[in-house]
Amino acid sequence: MYVLAPSLLAADFSILGQQIKETEKAGAEYLHIDVMDGIFVPSISFGMPLIQSIRKSSKQFFDVHLMIVDPERYIDEFVKCGADGITFHLEATKDPKKVIDQIHAFDVQAGISIKPGTPVEAVYPYLPDVEMVLMMSVEPGFGGQAYIPESTARIQQIKGYINDNHLSVKVEVDGGIGKGNIREVIEAGADIFVAGSAVFKAPGIEENVSDFIQIFHEYE
Ligand code: DX5
Ligand code: ZN
Repeated sequence: MYVLAPSLLAADFSILGQQIKETEKAGAEYLHIDVMDGIFVPSISFGMPLIQSIRKSSKQFFDVHLMIVDPERYIDEFVKCGADGITFHLEATKDPKKVIDQIHAFDVQAGISIKPGTPVEAVYPYLPDVEMVLMMSVEPGFGGQAYIPESTARIQQIKGYINDNHLSVKVEVDGGIGKGNIREVIEAGADIFVAGSAVFKAPGIEENVSDFIQIFHEYE
């Protein structure tokens, strides 16, 4: 089963609740929530108060993507404000296993992410312990960037490793995904697809979500 995770970063914050409901109504099971600290990535997005407040607008799986240094400082707070899954960056902590254990202590799903320049092999030791691996297909920090073509081979590589080792971890891909390249990303082996601009910046949010789900059906 494939899952669409619309990325909130591209939404219109003046009508956030309404836009989230549109994605939910059209069948997006996840909501991707990008938290940036201005240190791990150049930009700053939003944090706990916003997540807590939109929790009331949606029953979707809140897929929180932490682009912050030393994520171990904030796991409990993101759980409290409504995260269903928390993904942190391998590059952002000295002790990834400790962060995974912290997340699991709250009965929340753990994800680990790598940037486009990090060797895929670097994440292998952690795969048996997480529910999801998030492969960045752009440099993290901003929405609206172009998909890096080399990402496709990296997705194939991680999916191959997961299958060869009989692991059950899901592969999520984030950055530059649209209707024009999603088939390539599906065929490379991804399970969960983040889409910001392609859902919120093009007119007709519900239709955009439905179009993606239609494409998933071609493969199910
Ligand atoms: C980038 C974020 C992405 C971003 C994706 O750092 O992690 O989730 O919002 O946006 P698009 O789909 O526009 O590339
Ligand atoms: Zn993201």
